[in-house]
Amino acid sequence: MERKDLLGLRGMPRAEIEALISTAARMRQVGERRIKKVPTLRGRLVVSLFFENSTRTRTSFELAAKRLSADTLSFNVSTSSTAKGETLMDTARNIHAMQPDCIVIRHASAGAPALLARSFPFSVINAGDGINEHPSQALLDMLTMSDHWGALDGRTVAIVGDVQHSRVARSNIFGLATMGARVVVAGPGTMCRRELAALPVTRRHTIDEVVGEADAIMMLRIQRERLGKAMLPSAREYAAFYGLDLDRLQRARPEVLVMHPGPINRGVEIGAEVADGGRSVILDQVTNGIAVRMALLYHLLGREGAVDEG
Ligand code: NCD
Repeated sequence: MERKDLLGLRGMPRAEIEALISTAARMRQVGERRIKKVPTLRGRLVVSLFFENSTRTRTSFELAAKRLSADTLSFNVSTSSTAKGETLMDTARNIHAMQPDCIVIRHASAGAPALLARSFPFSVINAGDGINEHPSQALLDMLTMSDHWGALDGRTVAIVGDVQHSRVARSNIFGLATMGARVVVAGPGTMCRRELAALPVTRRHTIDEVVGEADAIMMLRIQRERLGKAMLPSAREYAAFYGLDLDRLQRARPEVLVMHPGPINRGVEIGAEVADGGRSVILDQVTNGIAVRMALLYHLLGREGAVDEG
């Protein structure tokens, strides 16, 4: 697999997704050792550049880089020169002058990572661009599913809520379709519009329809930052129509997986008992996120080094 950047899962061949997932499963073993570090990316520089808030994604990329012994640098955009009016390209030119090997970028504009990837020789990983894609999240979601199922072929994954504005949903839709799974979606009309018909998904109208047929139910946070006020029902109304509570979960398959990319809004899209309950794999997703990001950094930067050195 020769690639410089990871911008999205749209069009990524199945063999490549499988390679990343299986490398991630191997990388997970590093996190289970007492010394959670291998020398694979020693001397390489990974810079994270987040123009939008993040807890899991940023820390997990940084931890992944550290476990591979890379140096990490984190630009906190609110305190950096962007607040003083510097453009994205100028910020990137300055970072380029520091000779990074990889930039992990999150930006509110779809296409910002692609712009950097086209303009600079360093590797670019898209850690979420507007409503476009969030490929590392979908890869960690697929690793979590394959831990339980093996192959994803023929499985049904329900994505519920604000599908329209979710880059997590889009990356999962592309990745899962490639891996032979079926995606069904449900959500309020304003968050699940007709444009979704262009994607490989089946649209249902109520959460109850998808809960019964799903092998995994992926709940989404309402992307308030990307919505006009008019689209927002009250939290109580949303929970009543689209929230996954214990009552609804009882109608699901007994072995169903409950997933959420985080941050969760307890009592809105997911009930606390469901988030903390026996079917939830939400924290496994977080642990798997580190392994998937190690696999990505390894595939993009470190092919010449061996994984189990040291
Ligand atoms: C998601 C994101 O930022 O797209 N979070 C994440 O990376 N785990 C989902 C969200 O913000 O709702």
